[in-house]
Amino acid sequence: MPHTSDMVSDMAIRVRRAAAGDADRIDALVRSLSPGSIVRRFMGGVSREFAVAELSREVRAGGTDFALIAESSRGELIGEAYVAMLTPHDAEAAFVVRDREQHHGVGTALLTAIVAELRARGVRTLHADTTPENVAMLALLHEGGLASHERYLNGMVHVSVQIGESST
Ligand SMILES: CC(C)(COP(=O)(O)OP(=O)(O)OC[C@H]1O[C@@H](n2cnc3c(N)ncnc32)[C@H](O)[C@@H]1OP(=O)(O)O)[C@@H](O)C(=O)NCCC(=O)NCCS
Repeated sequence: MPHTSDMVSDMAIRVRRAAAGDADRIDALVRSLSPGSIVRRFMGGVSREFAVAELSREVRAGGTDFALIAESSRGELIGEAYVAMLTPHDAEAAFVVRDREQHHGVGTALLTAIVAELRARGVRTLHADTTPENVAMLALLHEGGLASHERYLNGMVHVSVQIGESST
């Protein structure tokens, strides 16, 4: 889906796998986040120190879990997504985009890359937890018209998106 905002129409977004060196740049991303974005990303209030440590851990992650980085054409780190493999057919994702670039297609670019990677691995279902108020995250997960299921529990919503060729 094309995104035609003034900001991003002139700004190519590059999405790539995170590298160990990105851990040193996470600090600037986290420092740029509003308190609301930190709460939505971590599903509650956490300190910036915790957020830096957690995102740094994610971009260094080895094994089957992986992190993706979104960069602007100027090389600025403007988003991060982390994918944890739950089973060979299920993965869980979390996203964060720098506040001033939110709603400009960065989350969509990260999700598109995640889905491509997970499909190549044979993963059928992508899971994500958010709150019913997080309209941006819910819209992101419903983009592309993929079949999805929402489960509401204790003020949270768990979304399961079918990304495989066959989910049965
Ligand atoms: C949720 C988040 C990752 C989405 O990324 P993004 O770059 O803003 O999303 P996009 O611009 O690609 O937009 C994706 C969809 O969300 C919609 N959207 C984005 N921001 C929105 C907003 N503030 N209000 C309503 N809809 C919004 C877009 O319109 C688009 O839907 P559409 O294709 O139907 O138009 C980003 O807003 C963010 O980092 N939020 C803070 C952290 C967070 O909430 N993480 C999620 C929990 S892990």
